[in-house]
Amino acid sequence: MNKRAFIKGLALTAIAKPLGLQALQPFVEKHAHIPAHELAGKEDFWVTIRQGYALKSDYINLENGYYCIQPQAVLEKFVAHAREVNYQGSWYMRTVQWDNKKKAAARLAAVAGCGEDELVITRNTTESLDMVIGGQDWKPGDEAVMAEQDYGSMLDMFKLVAKRYGMANKLVSVPNHPKDDDEIVQLYASAITPRTKLLMIGHMINITGQILPVRKVCDMAHARGVKVMVDGAHAFAHISFKIPDLGCDYYGASLHKWLSVPLGAGILYVRKDAVAGVWPLLADGERKPDDIGRLNHIGTHPTHTDLTISDAIDYYEMIGAQRKEERLRFLQRYWTEKVRTVPGLIVNTPVDVQRSCGIANVGVSRLKPSELAETLLKKYRIWTVAIDYANVHGVRITPNVYTTTDELDVLVKALRELAVAS
Ligand SMILES: Cc1ncc(COP(=O)(O)O)c(C=O)c1O
Repeated sequence: MNKRAFIKGLALTAIAKPLGLQALQPFVEKHAHIPAHELAGKEDFWVTIRQGYALKSDYINLENGYYCIQPQAVLEKFVAHAREVNYQGSWYMRTVQWDNKKKAAARLAAVAGCGEDELVITRNTTESLDMVIGGQDWKPGDEAVMAEQDYGSMLDMFKLVAKRYGMANKLVSVPNHPKDDDEIVQLYASAITPRTKLLMIGHMINITGQILPVRKVCDMAHARGVKVMVDGAHAFAHISFKIPDLGCDYYGASLHKWLSVPLGAGILYVRKDAVAGVWPLLADGERKPDDIGRLNHIGTHPTHTDLTISDAIDYYEMIGAQRKEERLRFLQRYWTEKVRTVPGLIVNTPVDVQRSCGIANVGVSRLKPSELAETLLKKYRIWTVAIDYANVHGVRITPNVYTTTDELDVLVKALRELAVAS
């Protein structure tokens, strides 16, 4: 099939009736005997998964890092939940709302591998992590450690508490191509002083996709009496892991990213023995100090989003955590391996298999990131996002499970042409 016919075919896929969960389940089960790393490269399998999505045909979407749209099977459940809650009205809110939210939180705790009394559903990573930052008992002179590659909202929250309480923030800069884990551990260790109280680390840096050795950094920090908060916005339901294995004190993630929950859902994990030490953002009456429910008062909110969490987990488990991770890593390596050594192109994501998964970042040396993103969209119909701060100058490329290698071939061709023009 030539490229034009292929792209036309994609457009047709976008308007064909997508496959529901019941049709997909037996299809996926038929492939259960194939090891995940092998299935990762089987295009036919993933093209069928793609058919479960309604995709715009205007561009190739390589900006799934902002949020991952729901497959139609999950979207339909969401719409049904919205209808039901609207039908039940305040009866729903006054009777089963909280029981249902607890059930969803319990399923998330099972995915995260933590206790049900250690995890609550929030609206996003920002709410989860900013509550932990703002909820520390900061004293003048206290210090926190973080990286300039961390997400802006959390860096802003640290600046706010510095102004308010007279604490100080120490920023490290994570290299794009670390030699080994020890280099990262030593980097964070070098910023810790006897006054350090909290260390923030990204599980997967959002601008480059680099996965950091969180467990080793936690062990190092704990040995110095420092608590660790992990920004897992991009790691949860992208790479498979269990939160307690990381050894962190706090973990926040957004469910509308890799779990494909409708917009406006996140998790906050707080290790049981750390719950009592966090002040809530919004008060929730009298509860025991170690009741994580203290940190979960947000007022009336879209309960149909909470209800859809279980459907999104069903879909995620149907695909399989390992299969999803392997496919995303396969896609990233499929294109980065073709451009990594091309003169004029700079890949800002480590080459080591365990240091990245689906996300990567690439720059063209003669173009500003904003020019590169604009050219990719206007000339090649590829949707990305420009990143231009710290040591990262390029566009972030984020495929999803529905991305095909043919789409990535379009990206590779575009990058090669833009590099030669330099
Ligand atoms: C690393 C990281 N942390 C936090 C966030 C904030 O997520 P949200 O807007 O869902 O709170 C993002 C969003 O892209 C992110 O990439």
